[in-house]
Amino acid sequence: MTINKQILLGVSGGIAAYKSAELVRLFKKQGAEVQVVMTKSAMQFVSPLTFQALSGNPVHSELLDADVENAMGHISLARWADCLIIAPATANIIAKLSHGIADDLLSTLYLAATCPVYVAPAMNQAMWNKAVTRENIETLLRHGVKLIGPEQGDQACGETGFGRLSEPVVICKHLTDALEYQNHSPVQCLQGLKVLISAGPTREPLDPVRYLTNRSSGKMGYALANAALKAGAEVTLVSGPVSLTAPNNVQLIKVETARQMYDAVMSKASEHAIYIGAAAVADYSPVVMQPEKIKKQDAQATIILQKTKDILADVAGLDKRPFTVGFAAETHNLEDYAREKLIRKKLDMIAANWVGQEQGGFDSEQNALHVFWKSGDKTFSMMDKTQLAEQLISLIAERLKVS
Ligand code: PMT
Repeated sequence: MTINKQILLGVSGGIAAYKSAELVRLFKKQGAEVQVVMTKSAMQFVSPLTFQALSGNPVHSELLDADVENAMGHISLARWADCLIIAPATANIIAKLSHGIADDLLSTLYLAATCPVYVAPAMNQAMWNKAVTRENIETLLRHGVKLIGPEQGDQACGETGFGRLSEPVVICKHLTDALEYQNHSPVQCLQGLKVLISAGPTREPLDPVRYLTNRSSGKMGYALANAALKAGAEVTLVSGPVSLTAPNNVQLIKVETARQMYDAVMSKASEHAIYIGAAAVADYSPVVMQPEKIKKQDAQATIILQKTKDILADVAGLDKRPFTVGFAAETHNLEDYAREKLIRKKLDMIAANWVGQEQGGFDSEQNALHVFWKSGDKTFSMMDKTQLAEQLISLIAERLKVS
């Protein structure tokens, strides 16, 4: 795959700045034209000469350089770029971007940029976990910035945790996929098709005041509903109890229990071209719902559960079945379990995600997916769910065409 694009790479001052040199090489290898902007502190870690040699272009660092301003000031650099990627992005540059502070070339360029902006954070794990950094990241995501990483692992400071810059090959693949998607997305890939999506958790009542549920927020399913609408589809969203607002133009069916979700989905499935099961449906529900509040008595209590009906498998088993896409939420053996579900439930595709980890999965703004179908697979690295949903919808449209 090639990236015939003009990439503006911002390098801020962290130890991971050395990895950005490899990033320039990978971008160039893919056919991209690259210009590099460095902050003053980035230049303490890597010489601008390295980036100049690798990119074949002079490196930019001064906001108010009279010579540079004549040739390629911050406005023209911002206009030149098809995308701006900041890698590594330190906690400091993230804080500046999220607050609109423009006190050097890179932060000013961000304000002037109208192209998509990607940020690949790199910092000590405690700095990444600090509440103010989390808030700054949430702000950037809300402002439409796309996040790549960071990854978990050993850090230069000797600690272990989230905060490692994603590897250059991962960043390059992420960008290649995103730019490829940009090339195709305007073509409303699901124009005129009806898409049924399930989202959120289910609640299985034990008595009038208690229920069994899970950590699903509905974010993944709602992002898919938005992405399918954007792709031109007519969308029906069957949603468990969540605190999200559904897009105006979807047909929203609110449900609580797995049984209600089953009935709602099954009554609609045959009218739709695609079914995406993003909901975290309870696998078991209490055999009886006690009509009165269960009283505290013995030291231990037993609840007898029974298996719920498998919505996904039953949709895929319909005579007039939609193109059926399942999700697999796994804490281990992701690929084996996902492939097993793909075959056992006779699905067209399955999107597998890790859950129970610090990043991605349930109730996170971000997620990563490994998608499988009979004859192939595709990985999507950690990114915000909005962007991930758009890329998954694009892949579903592609696979539907050849199915
Ligand atoms: O909602 P978020 O907070 O954004 O989190 C997103 C998510 C982690 C919930 C989502 O990405 C996801 O993985 N959804 C599926 C969760 C799940 O229940 O996975 P599973 O491996 O247990 O089930 C496999 C598939 O069977 C799923 O498509 C599920 O919808 C479906 N299923 C399960 C049980 C059942 N009775 N009927 C079903 O249709």
